[in-house]
Amino acid sequence: RKKIGILTSGGDASGMNACVRAVVLYGISKGCDVYAVYEGYQGLVDGGDYIRKMDWRSVTGYLSIGGTSIGTARCMAFKTHEGRLQAAENLVKHGIDSLIVCGGDGSLTGADVFRSEWTGLLDELITAGRITVDEAKTFRSMTIVGIVGSIDNDMSGTDITIGAVTSLHRICEAVDSVDTTALSHSRAFVIEVMGRHCGWLALMAGIATGADFIFIPEQPPSDEDWETSMCKVARRHRELGKRKTIIIVAEGALDKNLKPIKVDRIKDILSDRLGLDTRVTILGHTQRGGSPCAFDRILGTVQSVAAVDAVLSSSPDKPFPMIGMNNNKVTTQPLMDAVKLTHEVAEAIESRNFQRALELRDSQFLD
Ligand code: F6P
Repeated sequence: RKKIGILTSGGDASGMNACVRAVVLYGISKGCDVYAVYEGYQGLVDGGDYIRKMDWRSVTGYLSIGGTSIGTARCMAFKTHEGRLQAAENLVKHGIDSLIVCGGDGSLTGADVFRSEWTGLLDELITAGRITVDEAKTFRSMTIVGIVGSIDNDMSGTDITIGAVTSLHRICEAVDSVDTTALSHSRAFVIEVMGRHCGWLALMAGIATGADFIFIPEQPPSDEDWETSMCKVARRHRELGKRKTIIIVAEGALDKNLKPIKVDRIKDILSDRLGLDTRVTILGHTQRGGSPCAFDRILGTVQSVAAVDAVLSSSPDKPFPMIGMNNNKVTTQPLMDAVKLTHEVAEAIESRNFQRALELRDSQFLD
């Protein structure tokens, strides 16, 4: 009888609860015992009551609840060897032989490190007398499966991450609200959205709300003098009859020289050069809140079913999988490859090689 642990980790994302629910319900229906690990990797490190067996009713109402009801954390302890050793011991003590992790790129990187160390961790626990050779036997073939939950949509190897579309809806609602007041006063608004390394939310929100100008980290303005280019566009739109000006800025937006483009700077430019009455709105964590949209409930559900299936069909010779989406199909690929590609994209952006970053992002879909 398989004993599956499910945890959510990193920044919460709407739809994570759909994941937990589907792992619990589908896992039980397939004859497995399912355990929720509360508070992300921290719960794995702390063990005890943070690891609880779930039953059919444990997840009642989960589909429509935003965030993650089993808690999450950006856990420092799991980044240390001692923390991971403790986590391995807790898994063995609870008899959990498979772990499904729903989280963003940092969380899945953690899962990948844990995977690569697993055998060594078991040996270390045996040598230290913390577990017995017999206890370790069942766990030699521990399976770890990743599901991507992140509002940023910044993971390679999948078209879309759980929570991104809900956050995009939240942003659009907020921009629509700003629009009415902007129109009333004929004002300009500079709106900051989340996304430290990935401009997906800013770009999609800009298209969906008809923003005048968008700033994202991956594609800094090609023009050295982005201030003038932005003003030209905003002025032209005004000349064509627009009563409002909306600029959407990803929090990690950069200029050509990789200096951050900040909302207050944009506000000053619009006020000083175009004489526009300008306000700044930083959407902050409102973007992560609220009930998941239908898409994220479905995404969380179908991917979690695939994750449980991956656990049930796992074998020691198969690499640990990450569940993704490509062309509307649920995909399974080596977790290690997706993590590696995500880091390569981030490195390319950091070293200003934007063309390479775009090529790498595209390369994941070639086959
Ligand atoms: O990774 C998701 C995210 O929401 C980012 O877009 C944002 O930069 C970050 O998390 C904020 O993190 P925290 O909630 O820890 O402040």
